[in-house]
Amino acid sequence: MSFSEVVILKPKAFLDVISGELVVADLLIENGKIKEIGQFNTENANEILLPDLILLPGLMDSHVHLIGNTESKGYESISESSYLDTIYGVENASKTLMAGFTTVRNVGAGYYADVALKRAIDAGVVPGPSMLVSGPALGITGGHCDTNLFPPEFDIQGQGVVDSPWEARKMVRTNRKYGADLIKFCATGGVMSRNTDVNAKQFTLDEMKAIVNEAHNHGMKVAAHAHGLEGIKAAIIAGADSIEHSSFIDTETTLLAIEKGTFLSMDIFVSDYILGEGAEKGILEESLEKERTVGRKQRENFANAHSLGAKISFGTDAGIFAHGQNARQFAYMVEWGMTNLEAIQAATIQTADLFGINNVGIIEPGFDADIIGVRSNPLTNIRTLENIAFVMKEGRVYKNN
Ligand code: ARG
Repeated sequence: MSFSEVVILKPKAFLDVISGELVVADLLIENGKIKEIGQFNTENANEILLPDLILLPGLMDSHVHLIGNTESKGYESISESSYLDTIYGVENASKTLMAGFTTVRNVGAGYYADVALKRAIDAGVVPGPSMLVSGPALGITGGHCDTNLFPPEFDIQGQGVVDSPWEARKMVRTNRKYGADLIKFCATGGVMSRNTDVNAKQFTLDEMKAIVNEAHNHGMKVAAHAHGLEGIKAAIIAGADSIEHSSFIDTETTLLAIEKGTFLSMDIFVSDYILGEGAEKGILEESLEKERTVGRKQRENFANAHSLGAKISFGTDAGIFAHGQNARQFAYMVEWGMTNLEAIQAATIQTADLFGINNVGIIEPGFDADIIGVRSNPLTNIRTLENIAFVMKEGRVYKNN
């Protein structure tokens, strides 16, 4: 939903995320888009004075789980209905937007609750970021994308469970039918799921190829969850557009990803949350045990992938930790080898590239007016992104402290 009036933003400066320059200029916003950059003193326009703020394009996160109650983990979470999860999603979406994230990709949600939330946000019913949504994630029986907490007599399985190429194609078609923008599938076991091994490949290469081929036929991107090397490799060969987590990726496979143009979406902050507050929040001991093998390796491999020149998006897995804290990952990306500008580019132009959208991620005439403001220079103080003072999405102001 865009806003038709003319608004002029008068900041201290804005960050050109391509060149890394701070530009001293005003932004003229019309019909929800950036119309002109320059010096303006228009009588009948709405001026917003932001003399202490540095503006940036709205941030993006390629891996969030907005649907659900962040506070309930493990067995506690199974008592909550999809309806309740969706209501929590409304609050989560608002927190995400107020933290400066104006576009996010939601990777996995039951009953198409993500499609519903996205539509409510787009209709202006509730505040939230623009969303790209996957619907139920595809996975094998007993895999990371199945539901493994119930005993067998309950006969419960995840909605995206498929066990052959044709079942997989049908599920991709079903997700498309109900409004998914992209497809998520699980190519290995995971940390947070019961009875799965992070190193085990899930799906055969044929199944992965069927998923990707069917999704690409419909113009949908594919995000593959993968920690272990075999699953990462197979998902890249199958043509996935991004590898989520990429924890045990090695140099050879990173080079393969570079050759194929595959993005790595590496959630290198969340480990500290899982191993810090995880146990008291109800995360299963089995998961904590797995996380101890993943967290540090993933960070080392992030540094290696970055130094080799891999395409890296900004994906956090918010939903494991509280929504609105997504920006805490920036400092980790800098600690593990990126410059401040590269980390900001990951969360703007790189993630926009992965999403396949070209209307956001840069402050430039013609782009959507998704603009945020911070109190100090993010090129020298990356953690200023953890305290967003101003949020505009599609020309509408949601926050102005
Ligand atoms: N959703 C992921 C999983 O369960 C979380 C992995 C978190 N750990 C990490 N080091 N990134 O597998």
